Amino acid sequence: MKLGTIKLKNNLILSPLLNVSTAPYRQFCRTFHPIGLVCVPMIYTKRLISNPNSIIHELLKIEEESPISVQLIGNNEKALKRAINFLESYKFDVLDINAGCPSNRAIKAKEGGYLLKDLKKLESLLKIALKYSSRPVSLKTRIGFENSNNNFEFRRIINDSGLEFLTLHARTVKDRFDNSTLDLDAFKKFKEKISIPVVGNGDIFDAKSAKHFLDHADVNGLMIGRGTMGNPEIFLQVHEYLTRGKEIAFKNNKDKCKSNIEIYEQIIDKFLEDVKLNHSHEEFKFVELKRNSIWLTKNIENSTIIRRELSKTKNLNHLKETIQNCLKSN
Ligand SMILES: Cc1cc2nc3c(=O)[nH]c(=O)nc-3n(C[C@H](O)[C@H](O)[C@H](O)COP(=O)(O)O)c2cc1C
Repeated sequence: MKLGTIKLKNNLILSPLLNVSTAPYRQFCRTFHPIGLVCVPMIYTKRLISNPNSIIHELLKIEEESPISVQLIGNNEKALKRAINFLESYKFDVLDINAGCPSNRAIKAKEGGYLLKDLKKLESLLKIALKYSSRPVSLKTRIGFENSNNNFEFRRIINDSGLEFLTLHARTVKDRFDNSTLDLDAFKKFKEKISIPVVGNGDIFDAKSAKHFLDHADVNGLMIGRGTMGNPEIFLQVHEYLTRGKEIAFKNNKDKCKSNIEIYEQIIDKFLEDVKLNHSHEEFKFVELKRNSIWLTKNIENSTIIRRELSKTKNLNHLKETIQNCLKSN
């Protein structure tokens, strides 16, 4: 399938997820089913140019992950231009601009979701991205800042921009995440006036919610974020259901959880071969494995107790011992 000029194996996309969709995570998700496009979490443009060493570990080995998108967040044209220039030596397929992040940090810095309140700035940043990036440019945003009315100018900017595609989260910036329901009607109205391909995003936690989104809003692709955490099979489930109507349940148990953690560990080890990080490999592995082991216990017997034990671990050996003890077969 194609998103603009970008050829993808399928229309499923792994969201950019700060501190989550790391290189091992992206690869882990791809182990269970091909994913059309994966995304590196947002990179702050100012930080990238002022202190690249604090960021470049996010870009290690991305050339092995094609097709992959790299996302920038910022509100300064000069910094954006320099960041794009810096990224030129890396091999990736799409440059994404973040105009949706609702965090207090982003709003205070007048970037991410704040850009929906400053459309002139958004347009100016998009012009820079389109002018200086040698890769196709996409935009990830939401249906509005406080509400989705009066977004004529917003849609004009999107339609006139030369963007390859748009990823739209079916919430306003003010609605942030879980404290509100998805507004698929507003999404649909917004999407109907957009002349470039649109990827739908928000609350896809299983195959049925993916189908519901697709049926309701007729999008060109689906992006999944939180639904991947603890369910690495979600892309397989969604793909099978959308293409063949086949329902595959994610049946987790101790053995499966253990095997998934082992796969994750092997992926981390492979990733760490001949890479240099700012901190130790052991620390990297501990943080990655702990976070994901906790998620991977989803729905297994005694998962609450096991999660509590895993979260108490302080180092890699302790974590591995706890995994062994908690996931022993009965
Ligand atoms: C932990 C976390 C980190 C996120 N990091 C980013 C990010 O770096 N860039 C971005 O555009 N969106 C980010 N998001 C938003 C997601 O990409 C996605 O738009 C949102 O979670 C809605 O999709 P979902 O319901 O499938 O999770 C993040 C969300 C979460 C929960």
